[in-house]
Amino acid sequence: MTADDPTKKVFIKTFGCQMNVYDSERMAEALAGDGYRETSDIEDADLVVLNTCHIREKAVEKVYSDLGRIRDLRDQRRRAGKDTLVAVTGCVAQAEGTEIARRAPAVDLIVGPQSYHRLPELLRKTQATGECIVETSFPEEEKFEHLSPQRQFRTATAFLTIQEGCDKFCTFCVVPYTRGMEYSRSIADIEKEARILVEKGVRELTLLGQNVNAYHGVGATGGEGSLAELVRKLASIDGLERIRYMTSHPRNMTDDLIAAHGEEKKLMPYLHLPVQSGSNRILAAMNRKHTAEDYIRVIEKVRAARPDIALSTDMIVGFPGETDADFDATLELVKAVGFAQSYSFKYSSRPGTPAANMEDQVSDALKSERLTRLQYLLTNQHERFNARTVGLTVPVLFERLGRNSRILVGRSPHLQLVQAEADAGLLGKILPVAIRSHGPGSLSGVVAA
Ligand code: 5AD
Ligand code: SF4
Repeated sequence: MTADDPTKKVFIKTFGCQMNVYDSERMAEALAGDGYRETSDIEDADLVVLNTCHIREKAVEKVYSDLGRIRDLRDQRRRAGKDTLVAVTGCVAQAEGTEIARRAPAVDLIVGPQSYHRLPELLRKTQATGECIVETSFPEEEKFEHLSPQRQFRTATAFLTIQEGCDKFCTFCVVPYTRGMEYSRSIADIEKEARILVEKGVRELTLLGQNVNAYHGVGATGGEGSLAELVRKLASIDGLERIRYMTSHPRNMTDDLIAAHGEEKKLMPYLHLPVQSGSNRILAAMNRKHTAEDYIRVIEKVRAARPDIALSTDMIVGFPGETDADFDATLELVKAVGFAQSYSFKYSSRPGTPAANMEDQVSDALKSERLTRLQYLLTNQHERFNARTVGLTVPVLFERLGRNSRILVGRSPHLQLVQAEADAGLLGKILPVAIRSHGPGSLSGVVAA
């Protein structure tokens, strides 16, 4: 903040999942009400927010190394007569709380995901007292009711959180501890936010939740709604062209949701359904509550309803006790399903989760070797899926400019990244694109007449 520029500036760095991307947007909106404008230049920021992820150890370590650099930056700015407030939000804030203040004394504010609506008030308090504030309770009041209903327009695609938390307690996962128990917003509340976004030009909504298909918010008749009911409701909004949802659990792929994939044209043919492992022994130790056969059965039903659906998964290698035979079962499952997209990780021991105390932890070298083999197979499947699109004409929703202003980048219904030469005025529009070639991670084509 300078004499000739009275606005305060906030720099927000987002780690981890799409739910954090959504939360960062909501925080920016809450802070805008207090006069903060977003900046992409951290050196110019009066407030730095690190919205953090606790899912794997690496993600947490990145936060602490960033905090070290931010302390140096703050000291530099202080020497120039400017101050910098530092806030840590997200799952590391929730899980580590005061430990962050101990390890990183430059931090002024530590706020868990349930209290973002209180961010402006907490900032004022820390400024007034000069003390570090830690707010990691799970408050009774509902944050969504307190966040501004106004949404800022960013692109033609938007995330919308409909559900938070998880009651599944997979033994490797911190989410039930950092995000708490499952909570679903009401269908009416979600529809209201969706309509605001669509009025601002959003054409595609991705409904988010850690366990999104366990969604059971209050429905139209006052009873429990379902994700299928919500999708149908949102599909009736004029101007909204595409609906997606993530992340799902195989146990909650109900028949009505599967049927919606066959019937609802706006529901895109893409399903992110993590399986984690192909070994029933490991799935049981992970407390996944499904077997490999259950997963395959769900996939068969989904494919019967929507034959062209693209499937995506998360995989973990090197879970405690994973043998060569267990890992082979994972490779077999991947071959049996055929994934268009995937995210695979080495198991990372998380303090406080049951798997952290299990015997037979797998060595890092073996985890790396298995991850390489698994990713080789998954990358091949991904490339084959993209190669099959070459020669087809697919509708693409253009979201942003590419490497120069003549190239637009968008997504196909199957969530493939597509680049095409087109006028910037076509941003936010869905156009047919003839796919000519595919490279690593994206397709190229020309806009069809
Ligand atoms: N170690 C490695 N991967 C993990 N995930 C969750 N917890 C861990 C962990 N402890 C992965 C799962 C999940 C994705 C979001 O992150 O695959 O689906
Ligand atoms: Fe974590 Fe997903 Fe399992 Fe919930 S269902 S505990 S979020 S991996």
